[in-house]
Amino acid sequence: MVEFRRGHDHDDQWYLLIARDYDAGTASWRYGCLIRLRTAKAFQTQMRHSARLMELGGMASALSHELRQPLFTISLAAENGLMLLQNGQPDQERMAAKFERIVEQVERANAIVQRTSAYARTERDERVAMDLAQAVQNAARFMRPVMTERDIDMQVVIPSTLPILSLPRIGIEQIIVNALQNAADSIDTRRESGACGIMGVIKVDIQQDADAVLLTVCDNGAGLDPGIRNTAFNAFCTTKPEGKGTGLGLFVCRQIMDEVGGSIAIADNADSAGATLTLRFPVSEGG
Ligand SMILES: Nc1ncnc2c1ncn2[C@@H]1O[C@H](COP(=O)(O)OP(=O)(O)O)[C@@H](O)[C@H]1O
Ligand SMILES: [Mg+2]
Repeated sequence: MVEFRRGHDHDDQWYLLIARDYDAGTASWRYGCLIRLRTAKAFQTQMRHSARLMELGGMASALSHELRQPLFTISLAAENGLMLLQNGQPDQERMAAKFERIVEQVERANAIVQRTSAYARTERDERVAMDLAQAVQNAARFMRPVMTERDIDMQVVIPSTLPILSLPRIGIEQIIVNALQNAADSIDTRRESGACGIMGVIKVDIQQDADAVLLTVCDNGAGLDPGIRNTAFNAFCTTKPEGKGTGLGLFVCRQIMDEVGGSIAIADNADSAGATLTLRFPVSEGG
């Protein structure tokens, strides 16, 4: 897949060209599509949205697995209730317990669907007053089923008080979700390369220094591929097979961090396996 944009016809005339399957014989691409976007902002929104949808694709199996659990419990409770009815003179209390279980599991399934569709939606992502703890908690809650399914221990350490920052909420959660997804993928890479028995660990940490809040996502995966050490943040830079990686995650993350005046970096861990992604959010004086 190749994608590029140009913006020189008019000040804000942006195009997005997506071409795939290069045929060396005819020196041409087999499929292509050109999208004209109204503004540069529309390009960015589209790009972020695509990156988010691709992340969701990667998580689909874990999410549907999580949905199967409440559905199973609901069907079991309903069947039991039916049996009690068919056997005549059902015990009121037992029947009530079955219905309560059904209601509670429907709520659980609903929460899963809502979280997922909120993540899939394109919405305006205006800045809101928030602290990073909320974003980390939302992203961690969203990714929890994926981590459980992939046998990874996700540890989140958040200080009790944090400054309130003005940030694009969806964008920040997207950064954290992508970081968690990348960390999990890297743990899989390490497992595939022989260390199959390792316990996967991802630590999410927030710390504060004099003029910034630092958010780190540290994993014990395979570490950075030496071939992409300087290009990991470029669009379409990926070491993952097609269908799994897009190479848009870190690119979009850096765009968002640039917009909020922060910075983003990734490096191998100094004295252990794996890598750490660091986000730095400046805190303006006086809050
Ligand atoms: N935690 C990590 N550990 C090792 N490599 C990483 C990590 N995060 C990102 N990378 C590398 O950076 C590349 C680009 O990441 P990203 O932009 O999110 O795209 P994608 O995940 O679709 O490949 C990944 O393919 C991977 O090689
Ligand atoms: Mg990624």
